[in-house]
Amino acid sequence: MKVAVVGTGYVGLVTGTCFAEVGMDITCIDIDQKKIDNLKQGILPIYEPGLEEMVTRNVAAGRLHFTTDIAEGVKDADVAFIAVGTPPGEDGSADLKYVLAVARGIGENLTDYCVVVTKSTVPVGTAAKVHNELTQALAKRNSSIEFDVASNPEFLKEGAAIDDFLKPDRIVVGVSSERAQDVMSKLYKPFLLNGHPIIFMDIPSAEMTKYAANSMLATKISFMNDIANLCEIMGADVNMVRKGIGSDARIGTKFIYPGIGYGGSCFPKDVKALIKTAAENGYQMQVLKAVESVNEAQKEVLFDKVKKHFGGELQGRKFALWGLSFKPKTDDMREAPSLVIIEKLLAHGCTVSVYDPVAVPEAKHSLGDTVTYAKDQFEALVDADALLVITEWPEFRSPSFGVVGKLLKQKVIFDGRNIYDPQEMQEAGFAYHCIGIRTAHQEPAQVSA
Ligand code: UDX
Repeated sequence: MKVAVVGTGYVGLVTGTCFAEVGMDITCIDIDQKKIDNLKQGILPIYEPGLEEMVTRNVAAGRLHFTTDIAEGVKDADVAFIAVGTPPGEDGSADLKYVLAVARGIGENLTDYCVVVTKSTVPVGTAAKVHNELTQALAKRNSSIEFDVASNPEFLKEGAAIDDFLKPDRIVVGVSSERAQDVMSKLYKPFLLNGHPIIFMDIPSAEMTKYAANSMLATKISFMNDIANLCEIMGADVNMVRKGIGSDARIGTKFIYPGIGYGGSCFPKDVKALIKTAAENGYQMQVLKAVESVNEAQKEVLFDKVKKHFGGELQGRKFALWGLSFKPKTDDMREAPSLVIIEKLLAHGCTVSVYDPVAVPEAKHSLGDTVTYAKDQFEALVDADALLVITEWPEFRSPSFGVVGKLLKQKVIFDGRNIYDPQEMQEAGFAYHCIGIRTAHQEPAQVSA
């Protein structure tokens, strides 16, 4: 099959490369000439484990092509994916200008029947707008080329995107014709060998599925963060509670880890967008509004613990942060809780020394020189009043606590991801604060009346 993928961001690049990996002829298109030139040489605009090797291998094999010329990419394509960004507008709704411009571009260059698929996360009703753009573009050419639109939401997790794409839990496709369904079945056949299904449905339902999935996962996290905060107050241990509820298959063990709030490019944006879409249509998403406000508050929980530990006296103190990205194995800083925590520390007259294995270049865009960037995790600790664990990178899980204790000015750790054992920390002489577990040094929060 010949496939065009427009947009070489995260989703487009992973999609195109994984289709090439199973032997298809793929052209990835982007308007950014520099990005395309770099990709041809195997230089990627994002960090994703394993992706660079896969791009290089498939370019060398002649299956994966990069171009800025949409006409070249769309020529003879059986399927054209739209995988460009939908940045949130000021009011939180997804801005569709790039998606619709690409739809027009595809319509201006189609050479034969093609299924035009929205892969970006787009509000319910977008495929209909894409259809409209294509119809108009073809009418201008007096062309009678047939096409279908389809919606194929993406469920990739950053840091595990290749595995998620090659071995998906499910593939969701919204279609409105049997012809499009046949093309999409053929396209995804190589990815269904693990026995998981491709689920066909109508287009609005497919568009809604993406928002419902991300909103449900965000809800699990905010719910668990609420429970964790209450555990601390009541003297319960959220790790025990998590195991206790997770073993009920109806609840499940995943996405019930408390922490310092969800971040990234999907959950915050999609939760906001769904609340907005609902409100525009006269419906209030009450659960999701609470999910969002719990998440905003949770990003401040670790800072509140710091403030409390030092009796409100933060001026002039130095803090070491391990981890900046919103989660491990990515350099993505979008909506990262680290940014909120750093802003609060700086506003209270503290200095901050940070270390992250990959996210520093990204972080510099927003943090500039307001913090110091340590060359390794231990350098960050020198003379700091405490260590704050922000992102659970594997290399932070088992440091030499003897060394950590010697480098820090005070043996204090605030662990936003619950990666250490409270008992062990106590034995090693650390004042240890974490999320949802009342430790020897962590007084219960005040119960307000
Ligand atoms: C998410 C969805 O998982 C994916 O299906 C969708 O396509 C895009 O959005 P991603 O944003 O890459 O993927 O990250 P994910 O691993 O899902 O984590 C999201 C956030 O939730 C992170 O900030 C993470 O730290 C947080 N999280 C996750 C928790 O706080 N607790 C958990 O138990 C799980």
